[in-house]
Amino acid sequence: ENNGHSALPHGKFLVIGHRGASGYAPEETIPSFQLAKKLKADYLEMDVQMTKDGHLIVMHDTSLKRTTNAEKVYPDRAPWQIKDFTLKEIKKLDAGSWFNKEYPEYAKPSYRGLKVPTLEEVIKKFGRNANYYIETKNPELYPGVEKKLLNVLRQYHLLGPNAQSGKVIIQSFSKDSLLKIHKMDPNIPLVQLLSYDQPAHMTNHEIKDIKKYAVGAGMNFDMIDKAYVQKLRKNGLLVHPYTVNNEDDMRRLLSWGATGMFTNYADRLNKVLKTY
Ligand code: G3P
Ligand code: CA
Repeated sequence: ENNGHSALPHGKFLVIGHRGASGYAPEETIPSFQLAKKLKADYLEMDVQMTKDGHLIVMHDTSLKRTTNAEKVYPDRAPWQIKDFTLKEIKKLDAGSWFNKEYPEYAKPSYRGLKVPTLEEVIKKFGRNANYYIETKNPELYPGVEKKLLNVLRQYHLLGPNAQSGKVIIQSFSKDSLLKIHKMDPNIPLVQLLSYDQPAHMTNHEIKDIKKYAVGAGMNFDMIDKAYVQKLRKNGLLVHPYTVNNEDDMRRLLSWGATGMFTNYADRLNKVLKTY
């Protein structure tokens, strides 16, 4: 069983800043994480992937294409997979201008030229003043990513004997990746991500299996119902639906007993919590 549940702030509902405050700022950049903190997200959510030369960077997509100008800077290197680029090459990219173009209402000149952060840069910036909800993204592409991740987290005392508990939650769609992490450190709170394309159901067997290594599950909110949430809760699993950006959805999921939510708008979720 995963012992990490008790490491989390007891009974506290978690506002999880999805890719930072990605409704307002370029996702998974330092300003996005800064804004998430300012909007009182309890956790900074981020996806970790590995460069060709073995550095951990923070980015959602497997490809650099959508959230940087890689297509322009490296026209001959389609499909711009992170794993095919060195950190030095990735550091030449602009990870902010796409947002200004896509979301003119939230555009800021200061977003122009933002760099893709490494995990270490994010941790150095916020240190122990933030909590981190880290996803191993596409871990099958990056052999050894789990070990590297844990090493970085230990190096900065976010894990290990000198760490305050609950500073880090690790999530993945990959059970395999979570099992590797659980084996290296059974005290880390882990969350199994799930994606449903039809009304969600979880069998007792599945619940029992997840409970062997994880403290909770995160799933797309649009396929779950009250019975689903209550079944997981009754069995002692945390329930963190993603990605909830609308206040009515937030209220409904809260009433069903969700214990946290991923949102691009931490301010909206905090507002709903105040009046709930
Ligand atoms: O990590 C929770 C949620 O972020 C999963 O979806 O695609 O945004 O990583 P995604
Ligand atoms: Ca994620």
